[in-house]
Amino acid sequence: MAGPEHRLGLVAEVRDRLGEADRVLALTGAGVSAESGIPTFRGEDGWWRREDPTTLATQAAFDRDPSHVWEWYEYRRGIIADAEPNAAHRALASWEPDRAVLVATQNVDDLHERAGSRDVTHIHGSIWRVRCQACGREEEHRAHPLPERPPGCDRCGGLLRPAVVWFGEMLPAAPIRQIQAFIDGGVDVAFVIGTEASFGYIQGFARAARQAGALLVEVNPSRTALSGAVDIRLEAPAGEVLPELMGP
Ligand code: OAD
Repeated sequence: MAGPEHRLGLVAEVRDRLGEADRVLALTGAGVSAESGIPTFRGEDGWWRREDPTTLATQAAFDRDPSHVWEWYEYRRGIIADAEPNAAHRALASWEPDRAVLVATQNVDDLHERAGSRDVTHIHGSIWRVRCQACGREEEHRAHPLPERPPGCDRCGGLLRPAVVWFGEMLPAAPIRQIQAFIDGGVDVAFVIGTEASFGYIQGFARAARQAGALLVEVNPSRTALSGAVDIRLEAPAGEVLPELMGP
């Protein structure tokens, strides 16, 4: 395990590069919201340690028992509505005025936006949007007292489902295009923050950013699938270390 001096050296190196950077990509995951009290998926208190993803985050699960899946999403909406952005979200937002920062998050919460980040793209959708299974219409949906069944579409009466990406589903095209275009425009520093990077496409974006010239930095107290492929690992909670990377 690296000592505190080693960590200070790494922080200084990232600070220097970030200070000069014009274009920054931040790939974030559940760990960035952990310090706001939102459970991760695979961490110690993670959802997938308690629940079987195939009973909650698949189309088959929703078809089988829509109320059960809806209830889980309403419960999570409640947690997210009560949560506040933490120092990591705020640090990322504070880097924006002097450089282009694209925040590409796997999180379905809105804490990056509430911290002030303007350029946020949601790779796995948003928990605040629902989509009609029958006609495809999307609309905003806020946390509500639990109905007995998921509400129906105003236009066609079809069942509304969360507009998030479930296992086995295609990613939405717009975020992928946006991230790719940003990388094609050149990246000076790319961060992978609070994610296991267990999906090939997340590893792919990180590697592509590095190939486009970025210093690739992982911010995570634990090792991940990507750790061996990054330039620098900042082995600490995001809310602790991100604020150290800029400012006085
Ligand atoms: P995971 O739960 O798989 O991983 C969370 C990561 O955050 C772990 O690597 C932790 O070590 C790290 N972590 C925990 N606390 C942290 C902190 N304070 N600062 C920095 N890192 C911290 O979450 P994701 O990788 O985001 O998808 O999961 C990706 C996707 O898998 C989710 O979007 C969700 C899930 O299944 C769908 O539901 C489609």
